[in-house]
Amino acid sequence: MCGIVGYVGSKQAQHVVIEGLRRLEYRGYDSAGIALVHSVDGRGAIASDKKSGKLANLDKAITESPLPESTTGIGHTRWATHGAPNDTNAHPHLGRDSRLALVHNGIIENFAELRAELEAEGHTLLSETDTEVAAHLVERELTDGVDLTVAMQRACQRLQGAFTLVAVDARDPDRVVAARRNSPLVVGLGEGENFLGSDVAAFIEHTREAMELGQDQVVTITREGVEVTGFDGSPAQGTRYHVDWDLSSAEKDGHDWFMRKEIHEQPRAVADSLLGRRGTDGLLQLDEVRLSDDDLRDIDKIIIIACGTSFYAGMVAKYAIEHWCRIPCEVELASEFRYRDPILTQSTLVVAISQSGETADTLQAIRHARLQRSKVLAICNTNGSTIPRESDAVIYTHAGPEIGVASTKGFLTQLVACYLLALYLAQVKGTRFGDEINEVMDQLDEIPAKIQAVLDAEAGIYELAAKYVGTKSVLFLGRHAGYPVALEGALKLKELAYIHAEGFAAGELKHGPIALIEEDLPVLCVVPPRGRDQLHDKMISGIQEVRARGARTICLAEEGDTAIVPYADVLITLPKVPTLLQPLVATVPLQLFACELATQMGHDVDQPRNLAKSVTVE
Ligand code: AGP
Repeated sequence: MCGIVGYVGSKQAQHVVIEGLRRLEYRGYDSAGIALVHSVDGRGAIASDKKSGKLANLDKAITESPLPESTTGIGHTRWATHGAPNDTNAHPHLGRDSRLALVHNGIIENFAELRAELEAEGHTLLSETDTEVAAHLVERELTDGVDLTVAMQRACQRLQGAFTLVAVDARDPDRVVAARRNSPLVVGLGEGENFLGSDVAAFIEHTREAMELGQDQVVTITREGVEVTGFDGSPAQGTRYHVDWDLSSAEKDGHDWFMRKEIHEQPRAVADSLLGRRGTDGLLQLDEVRLSDDDLRDIDKIIIIACGTSFYAGMVAKYAIEHWCRIPCEVELASEFRYRDPILTQSTLVVAISQSGETADTLQAIRHARLQRSKVLAICNTNGSTIPRESDAVIYTHAGPEIGVASTKGFLTQLVACYLLALYLAQVKGTRFGDEINEVMDQLDEIPAKIQAVLDAEAGIYELAAKYVGTKSVLFLGRHAGYPVALEGALKLKELAYIHAEGFAAGELKHGPIALIEEDLPVLCVVPPRGRDQLHDKMISGIQEVRARGARTICLAEEGDTAIVPYADVLITLPKVPTLLQPLVATVPLQLFACELATQMGHDVDQPRNLAKSVTVE
């Protein structure tokens, strides 16, 4: 979820670009850079600078080594996906002849084969990024004598994945060219000037006239105007609109909270976390898992350690790992792990799940595990953070920066990474055939659309939440992979609405918690999909028990599940998904419910009381 700015007009581009990047700082990033088109002795040239860390580092560098005057430029704040956050990997990246500068947001799935093609032609690439590959690719097209627009069109036809590319050509100072596929890009329409941004916050102080672009489009901006084409060069149209948001709303994409925005980003985040996971040979491939297949084949026990929401992701992972890989899997709170004197060997794989990569409890736990000579694999959303740096291997989720303290897209993308790990282990250990693994991958590929279907029905969830303003206690029930979902739903309500909420394994009710049931007590029930032995029926009997004692049952069940209807005071239908994948869709209504209830109660949803986004103390 990088920040991108492009400008062509009559103002000083450096100022417009840097201030635009400042407006995009809220997105979270780990490096920043700028490129300007100017001329030296009458010849076009690119002047650029880029620094890891905050924008202040770039400001300092530019102050010490000023850039030339220019009215055409691009800028970038990077949220690292491929390659650690450092000066070399920061954007912009230049082509081989430094004629072209380019910035990028997204993931180019086939960058490795394109890199090999370029290196075979003698290109030398300096960074670990997929972006530099794109810069060399577009510039290579320029050498055919075509203009930047056509060069971009041609290069994009070679790319697979999700991307926004923005580039400038030293020999063509009057234009900035961009392209998008499944990644944000918006045009700002000015008088004698035009802008590009990853969102309107980049240029809203200059113009509120914007243009939305469609899929697989190339846009060329000059002082005089804007031209849109397809990747094949065919004429296309953008959609003009007036931005009536203030800056704060612009940063939240028009939502009231970053959390609500991030809930709605989940289809994209899940899709991005699945990109590039299948090799051209049809086998799974996982980035930066620096453990050999032999190392993984030797694993005879897995212990997952995490905190809070990430711990619940680990609980879901346990079901998947044990079902697909037949490896014993424990899930442990990181804060408890090292004090219980765990039994760890060199054949134990410790999996640390952390969105921030800085949680002190989890960090101390992996240090303990490594002292016991166990292998550690991190599942993390923050490239270059401490936990992946101190691990033997990592699977990065590609949720983009998560600003809201309450984790949402971080959680769903952790689930995706856990499923990928389980499938990869099954592939390595041979406990699942390739076709079975690909069947699950195909099911995962359908999940973003199913999450979107749940989001499209959000109004019903909001009406329901409004009825529970002031409620004092809420229970959540689930079974199997739905049990961690119940716990996560309860945590969301605790941390956002400050309501006592508790999640239970539905089978545990009769062992005590059913004593809590009283008239009109709201009980949210995550009903497993049918067809999974008696799991579904046993869940219904648990719901009957609480309803018979006066509870108000709010049931989340897959569409077409008629058996639940007589026992549901409120029914929230979920898209059909396999049992193990149901957490990916069942969690979303609970996120929306907690977010709306807290909003109606007047709470600060993004910064709940007493909480921090990253708990860096034990
Ligand atoms: C979840 O909504 C909370 N913000 C909290 O439980 C969080 O999941 C926990 O602190 C772990 O954080 P991490 O994933 O960054 O390690």
